[in-house]
Amino acid sequence: MLAVKVPKREAEKVRRKLIELGLLAKGYAVRREGEFVLFPVTEPVEGFELIEADFERLERRPHSYREVVEVPENVRPLLPSSFDIIGDVAIIELPEELMSYGKVIGEAILKVHRHIKAVFAKGSKVSGEYRVRELVHLAGRRRTETLHRENGIRLKLDVARVYFSPRLATERMRIFEKTRPGEIIFDMFAGVGPYAVLLAKKAKLVFACDINPWAIRYLEENIRLNKANNVVPILGDVRKIAGKLEADRVIMNLPKFADRFLREAMLSVKPGGIVHYYGFAPEEDLFSEHEAKIKAAAKELGFTVKFLEKRKVRPYAPRQFNIAIDFKVMK
Ligand SMILES: C[S@@+](CC[C@H](N)C(=O)[O-])C[C@H]1O[C@@H](n2cnc3c(N)ncnc32)[C@H](O)[C@@H]1O
Repeated sequence: MLAVKVPKREAEKVRRKLIELGLLAKGYAVRREGEFVLFPVTEPVEGFELIEADFERLERRPHSYREVVEVPENVRPLLPSSFDIIGDVAIIELPEELMSYGKVIGEAILKVHRHIKAVFAKGSKVSGEYRVRELVHLAGRRRTETLHRENGIRLKLDVARVYFSPRLATERMRIFEKTRPGEIIFDMFAGVGPYAVLLAKKAKLVFACDINPWAIRYLEENIRLNKANNVVPILGDVRKIAGKLEADRVIMNLPKFADRFLREAMLSVKPGGIVHYYGFAPEEDLFSEHEAKIKAAAKELGFTVKFLEKRKVRPYAPRQFNIAIDFKVMK
């Protein structure tokens, strides 16, 4: 192919010039020949010595497992364009038609993403009190414990035994930014501590409750890992603790059932304190049903609420969203 031949000492300057002109042929290895360097070019470049030369093709690393996976053409359009990564574990949601190709899909993910060591498919929806899902092993190690990094903290967890979603990292950072130094926080549904351990960097004290013993076990480990000694882990049903403490800020990260715990949240917040409520809602009416429940719960207790902010957190299912409502409780 066509090439520009330049003395070695001018090579870097010429390389930059060729890139600037958009004439450097992509995907080929530049060649060295004695005191000269050969650059492959897409068309003749004035002012340079032009020659014909062979160049070795550079192997381009694929960006997506979809570029390397071998599945029949008729199911290829069904391949998901994304999947969750928790530490070194990948969790992908495969439609029924792709489940029998799970192994090749898992192996393609391992091949393209070298830091991933285990691949699982979602085997069920998140369900039950502990909010966990079944996982189907596809490829790599059969290990479900991993170390995840998020918002500058390290979280050890077992993806098969506890709830954890990396998709909430931005939301957690948002709450961190709202937290004022010295606050007392009550994380009602703490899981392995992605809110609690993060907020502990600013707060005076964080009470972090969960009913799943595995979540509390990992939370304790994460307290140690991050030296978050101002987090108080509490194993048990949050209903037993609510009302026994007074927090500046309460976090209700149990979107499926948070409405059932509004009374507990309101009893646990100081007058003028803030509650971060999460729920699921259809696209056509994101907030009104949840707001009505919040107002009703406050009225029953003789309190009033002031809504501060409402937002979509992330898509949850087709035309369904995970939403957040921040409100202040006046007593
Ligand atoms: C959606 S997960 C959220 C976990 C964590 N906040 C996070 O962001 O990863 C909800 C958590 O609430 C816990 N949970 C459910 N019902 C509970 C209850 N009655 N009392 C305390 N924890 C509960 C579950 O075990 C689960 O870990």
